[in-house]
Amino acid sequence: WPVFADDIDAILTLKRQRNAVILAHNYQTPEIYHCVADLVGDSLALARLAQTTEADIIVLAGVHFMAETAKLLNPEKTVLIPDQEAGCSLAESITAEDVRGLRALHPGAPVVTYVNTSAAVKAESDICCTSGNARKVVESLGVKRVIMIPDEFLARNIAAETDVEIITWKGRCEVHERFTAADVRDVREAHPGVIVLAHPECPPEVVKEADFSGSTAVMSDFISSRKPPRVALLTECSMSDNIAVGNPEVEFVRPCNLCPHMKRITLKNIRQALEHNRHEVTIDPAIAGKARRAVERMLAI
Ligand code: 13P
Ligand code: SF4
Repeated sequence: WPVFADDIDAILTLKRQRNAVILAHNYQTPEIYHCVADLVGDSLALARLAQTTEADIIVLAGVHFMAETAKLLNPEKTVLIPDQEAGCSLAESITAEDVRGLRALHPGAPVVTYVNTSAAVKAESDICCTSGNARKVVESLGVKRVIMIPDEFLARNIAAETDVEIITWKGRCEVHERFTAADVRDVREAHPGVIVLAHPECPPEVVKEADFSGSTAVMSDFISSRKPPRVALLTECSMSDNIAVGNPEVEFVRPCNLCPHMKRITLKNIRQALEHNRHEVTIDPAIAGKARRAVERMLAI
């Protein structure tokens, strides 16, 4: 990939000089994921990895809530996000005030908050979850009823797996909400024998039609361990590109949707982040302590 070589060399040098690590989400483009990232994973893995790194600087190649989570867990370190506009439709869908309103409507129900939220929303929550541990988190609370925010589809998909009653919100992932049950049927018809994996942010009728559902890391493990001859991943497009490299015997059928927020991160702005220390993530100390407790409570499970 000669077109990327200059930026890749510069990033590798800057990382050494500055004692920096790059944590990259599974939806980053392959030149980031394979050539400059030190650690890759789903949202849960990135939170865990952020907790253990000894670097002075963390560059989060992902979206803003992921960088905020890394900062919550590493208040003493410099955490950089290469593009501050890398947001998320789920994080945008709810405010701290909305959470207070939900609590008032459903007194006594604990609030389980998807990590795809702002630190201010996390600070109003009892515990966080990711798509990789949502059911475990809900059931760990030992209650009959929880408020699970902000992803309506994730909440409904978890509700289908547990006896705990789940009250939810109206947030949607703009990438996964676009998949339909008809897409699954079309893929099966066009590619006989295909195994369909759907992210739990997809609508419940899509998850129901799929063969398997799990977080991006769970999908990746499924493919590496079972090596199905043909798969379709109903998720963000870079996911198949990234894991196809380690699974050359698997055919990836690609009905996918791009996340415009994830795609804001590029080799160019990662390089600039390391060169100019930008954009540094800061969190209001008035909310940081409470938000950190909700994330740490999740990580302790
Ligand atoms: P996971 O990688 O945790 O499955 O999350 C997917 C996602 O949409 C992150 O933005
Ligand atoms: Fe948010 Fe969906 Fe993009 Fe993930 S894929 S960052 S949930 S909009």
